Amino acid sequence: MILKYFGHSTFLITTGSSTLLFDPFITGNPTIEDKDISAINPDHILISHGHADHVLDVEAIAKSSGAQLISNYEVINWFGTKDLKGHPLNHGGKAVFDFGTVKYVNAVHTSSMPDGSYGGNPGGFVVWNEENSFYFAGDTALTLDMKLIPMTCPNLDFAILPIGDNFTMGYEDAVIAAQFVKCDKIIGCHYDTFGYIEIDKVAAKKAFADAGKELILLDQGATLEL
Ligand code: NI
Ligand code: MN
Repeated sequence: MILKYFGHSTFLITTGSSTLLFDPFITGNPTIEDKDISAINPDHILISHGHADHVLDVEAIAKSSGAQLISNYEVINWFGTKDLKGHPLNHGGKAVFDFGTVKYVNAVHTSSMPDGSYGGNPGGFVVWNEENSFYFAGDTALTLDMKLIPMTCPNLDFAILPIGDNFTMGYEDAVIAAQFVKCDKIIGCHYDTFGYIEIDKVAAKKAFADAGKELILLDQGATLEL
């Protein structure tokens, strides 16, 4: 499994023969210099919720790649009006795809589409196959519902958690989230993109290390083999 980070909450994960793009927000990211998205060619685009900093580049990338969208019912319907095809999920539900199983899990946050229309309730994804199992939390507060993940899904190899505070949990709460989901390898996201979510990265890494866990903070464009 190979993971590539595009900044904010945007990840491209290749597992088996499939490529999954999570929450594409590249052309609007003020910290990214190279905003060319034409080379991104996923098979599926997984969307945690409707906010613009998670869906901005969905339409362009889906239309150029033909990728299938996977999100909640309302987000899929909204993109359906733009002639994009998707698979709708709702909370607690899972479905089997060619690359593995996806479960849409609870997040505590809000969700409206960029035009202000209803975006359903926000969620995260647990994805698993023979190769790996991981949790992409989306935007969320720390919530006790995270304790359900190790009770209902295979053991996680890694988890992608927001750590930027203000709009989501901060890194202190994300340490507890990592404990709730029983995962020692955490990849941080949703930090340093704009002023509200700038964090002390040294302190964040230390907070995880003090809890016996690893916080990985990737540079934009960096890849990681997992
Ligand atoms: Ni959001
Ligand atoms: Mn966000």
